[in-house]
Amino acid sequence: MITIQTAEFVISNTQVEKCPQDNLPEYAFIGRSNVGKSSLINMLTNHSKLAMTSSTPGKTLLINHFLINKQWYLVDLPGYGYALRGKKIQEQLKNIIESYILQREQLTNLFVLIDIRHEPQKNDMDFIRWLGEHGIPFSIIFTKADKLNFATARDSVKKYMDTLHEEWEELPPYFVSSAEKKTGKDEILDYIDKINKSMKE
Ligand code: GTP
Ligand code: MG
Repeated sequence: MITIQTAEFVISNTQVEKCPQDNLPEYAFIGRSNVGKSSLINMLTNHSKLAMTSSTPGKTLLINHFLINKQWYLVDLPGYGYALRGKKIQEQLKNIIESYILQREQLTNLFVLIDIRHEPQKNDMDFIRWLGEHGIPFSIIFTKADKLNFATARDSVKKYMDTLHEEWEELPPYFVSSAEKKTGKDEILDYIDKINKSMKE
């Protein structure tokens, strides 16, 4: 089990070329605006304000690198499918996200966040398909589990994974979390720890 000893903000930017060059493994968070990416990073690192959060969608507009234990990064990304700011900004954000995902060789695993209350939606499915086509390693985190009771949450996760199974023979690993109740933390950190260790072997 990892304990988070240090979590430091390093840099925010819009260009992959300007991301840190120290070649440490990184774990990035992606998903629709407002799904809880930044809140999850704060929860995992025991910080209330490391990543900026907001109840209004479209808070994170840059690629943000946070160095953990001086050994690996958590990366907060802008949300996708956020329409309110207009087509041009949406197009810019899409370019930032896509170039980061496709060009960043240090990207070790992408966590795709899904609001546990949502039925499978086309833009998430399209995005996951696109990851598969490009061979990007990813897993799924269902967020805001505190918003549903246990049985409803379980059914919702099952429905989602069943829908993915219609397209994918092998399902990605998945986690259930709540930043509010601080659940899912050990499982997610454990998963990261295992990957970090396997890369050192
Ligand atoms: P963008 O940066 O805009 O793409 O959003 P984001 O995905 O980073 O979401 P953010 O972490 O800013 O959270 C959005 C809203 O959801 C905030 O009001 C959070 O307090 C709330 N939220 C996030 N995680 C949880 C959770 O686990 N439970 C509950 N109840 N609310 C949450
Ligand atoms: Mg955010």
